Amino acid sequence: MASGVPEIHYYEHELSIRRVIEESGLQDLDQALNICDLSSVEQKHRLWQRLLPRIRPYYAVKCNDDPVVVQLLADLGTGFDCASKNELKLVLGCNVSPERIIFANPCRPVSHLEYAKEHQVANGTVDNEFEIYKLHKHYSNSNLIVRFKSEAKEAQCPLGDKFGCDADVDATALMLLAKSLNLKVTGTSFHVGSGCSELEAYDRAIKKAKNLFKFGELLGYDMDLLDIGGGFPGSDDGKFEKISEIVNTSVERYFPDERVKIIAEPGRFFVAAAYTLICKIHAKREVRNEAGKLDTVMYYLNDGVYGSFNCILYDHQVVTAEHYLDEANSLPQFKSLIWGPSCDALDKISEDLLLPNLNRGDLIGFPNMGAYTVPIASPFNGFELPKTLYFRAI
Ligand SMILES: Cc1ncc(COP(=O)(O)O)c(C=O)c1O
Repeated sequence: MASGVPEIHYYEHELSIRRVIEESGLQDLDQALNICDLSSVEQKHRLWQRLLPRIRPYYAVKCNDDPVVVQLLADLGTGFDCASKNELKLVLGCNVSPERIIFANPCRPVSHLEYAKEHQVANGTVDNEFEIYKLHKHYSNSNLIVRFKSEAKEAQCPLGDKFGCDADVDATALMLLAKSLNLKVTGTSFHVGSGCSELEAYDRAIKKAKNLFKFGELLGYDMDLLDIGGGFPGSDDGKFEKISEIVNTSVERYFPDERVKIIAEPGRFFVAAAYTLICKIHAKREVRNEAGKLDTVMYYLNDGVYGSFNCILYDHQVVTAEHYLDEANSLPQFKSLIWGPSCDALDKISEDLLLPNLNRGDLIGFPNMGAYTVPIASPFNGFELPKTLYFRAI
């Protein structure tokens, strides 16, 4: 692994956060803490293999670059989608061979491209002519994967405004340009949008990919890589099953030839559900109505939107919370407004959770916090970032 061997705690049957809190003395903790269940990542990997056997996952490192998780996925045999030199470095440091990596950032600084070249990471996406000229100059024997735009009608984080060329006119023009420069186009890619809610979007995109394959073959290219991107859910396995059915049907229809290698770039699928963030209430205020009745309880936690909860701002995540009081079910619930620790009013985690009237020192847990949280968090206002405890089933 890239950075030391972490301590891994083992559990039987099911990971109980309540038991972890009791047994690890977390009640005394001053800082927020991530509980990472590595077995959840393994279970997701098994699910992927069962439902999408023809499609090899290339984990999108940007989603969570925790070296322990990256090493685990490397050991499980996944490939990796890297966006930068440092992500390439991290993955290569986990003993991953360059063929298992796609440099899936269509606009890379030259120094990052040179690093990829030095380490023989040959597959990379491209969606504009300037990048093609850049590749011609700096990495002319790389494999160009033309990324086209084909978005879902609904997604948590659409990506099409930033990346992906028009699938008809522009993609073919880019392929012609590549041909004229003696570059090698070997496939196509798309991303329907992260947190995709319009499942048919995959079928639409795979169909467009087929047309581009035909065009590439007309130009004499050996088109052998289809990359179906990300967009898979992190905690809704039922939805993942439906997406798998659509993708498998579409792949069978448009890409029956098994010589075409099909990959995907799942990020949140692998890691979202593996993390529970444990926060402590370090201050509270009670807001009463004119009649003096308790209306809202405001809690101030030791992590907020500048830290792990950046996913609320950037990933449009709606968080859910759990508490660990014994008599919880019998207690009255109150509208709870939850703030982060900084002196900034934007630092609001949630305003419509229902919780019993908790006290300073009580813990609140937030499940499904593994995607687009860890790598983006900042220690704004001097509040430290959470450490991570790793768990695994025996
Ligand atoms: C190029 C690329 N691939 C893959 C992903 C991962 O997407 P998801 O987390 O939806 O699987 C992203 C996310 O932004 C991305 O930009």
